[in-house]
Amino acid sequence: MSDDFDDFARNLQEQIFEETKDAYGTVAFERWQNPRYMGALNNPDGYARVTGPCNDTMEIFLRFEQETVAEASFQTDGCGSSAVCGSFAAEMAHGKTPDELLDVTGEAILEKLGGLPKEEKHCAFLAGETLQEALSSYMKKQVKR
Ligand code: FES
Repeated sequence: MSDDFDDFARNLQEQIFEETKDAYGTVAFERWQNPRYMGALNNPDGYARVTGPCNDTMEIFLRFEQETVAEASFQTDGCGSSAVCGSFAAEMAHGKTPDELLDVTGEAILEKLGGLPKEEKHCAFLAGETLQEALSSYMKKQVKR
């Protein structure tokens, strides 16, 4: 009985994983299973918290060293896609100058993922917008110095 249930659960999980991979693509699926750069940074140089049209919130943290992103991370209370997109936004921010960060947009994140289902594209735009806001908060601090 227990073995039957274990087999059933395993098969069901495999089926869900396969369907998820088909819908979201391998890149997004693998990142969803292993979201990197998740968590807050203490005293970030750039930070933003943006709530998307779906009411989910994304936070991006940036730490700069010599005008280059040395550390970047994200947090979200949103869907699996938002975690994947936040993770890629943080990854794509690493090693970039403020000028180069301007290119890390929702479109660029979608391109990196090879696309997302239509109804979840906004998750990439939320991540991109939050990253741009975090950059903007960093730039404002530079002007005040
Ligand atoms: Fe809200 Fe993905 S960020 S549904």
